[in-house]
Amino acid sequence: MIRLQKYLADAGIASRRGSEALIKAGRVAVNGETIREMGVKVDEEQDIVTFDGREIRPQNKMVYIMLNKPIGYVTTVSDDKGRETVMDLVRDIPVRIYPVGRLDYDTEGLLLMTNDGDLTYKITHPKNNIEKTYVAEVTGDINMNTILQLRHGVVIDGVKTSPAKVEVIGATQFGTKLEITIHEGRNRQVRKMFESVGCIVKRLTRTREAGLILGHVPLGRWRKLTESEVNMLKKIGSSKKSSKETRKNYHKNKKQTKNN
Ligand code: URA
Repeated sequence: MIRLQKYLADAGIASRRGSEALIKAGRVAVNGETIREMGVKVDEEQDIVTFDGREIRPQNKMVYIMLNKPIGYVTTVSDDKGRETVMDLVRDIPVRIYPVGRLDYDTEGLLLMTNDGDLTYKITHPKNNIEKTYVAEVTGDINMNTILQLRHGVVIDGVKTSPAKVEVIGATQFGTKLEITIHEGRNRQVRKMFESVGCIVKRLTRTREAGLILGHVPLGRWRKLTESEVNMLKKIGSSKKSSKETRKNYHKNKKQTKNN
């Protein structure tokens, strides 16, 4: 929900102050009802706002979604090899949005997409140390030694990885199922980390990123982020207090997801 004068300003009608004057003059209506007082809030998705009888829409409406990307889609806007891209999965969204960062062709799971360039920059900038969690199903010998190596850092492409959180969470037809949390975004990082300790990743799913939790979004489908998720993301990189807040929100969201 946003204030009516902000809605008008976002639609390019006037500045916020100028919009207040237009509201007072009775030139603005919400769902057919003329509004003259300040403080009215509108739902950008549902409400129909008119100015002088003509419907208006904010031009810079930001869209934030999480997609559960299946294997077999490239995380680009177009592919020169003619493969399907993640854009094919969000055709029903009327606004042009872009993937935030990448997931490999053969990786599935949480992919954030938006048209908010500032947020994309903040999430993908290494200085913000955004945490990403993956569930990896791997073959090979996983023991305490391999886990400690992965946690402390292994050398891939000649450079040691930063400390990671690594836990065994089960067994699968392939061998071991692990959860791994990293905050770097190097090319095929998780696969290469496991390779460096003699294991092969057979299935890789991103389950969390930047405090967002994939939860029950079906494979190949997307959902809009909630207002509290978007607010949490917008605080990234703003202060120490905000990263505390991000963690708090993360736990709140996790609880909510569990209860769904
Ligand atoms: N690590 C990988 O190996 N692949 C991904 O898609 C993401 C992280």
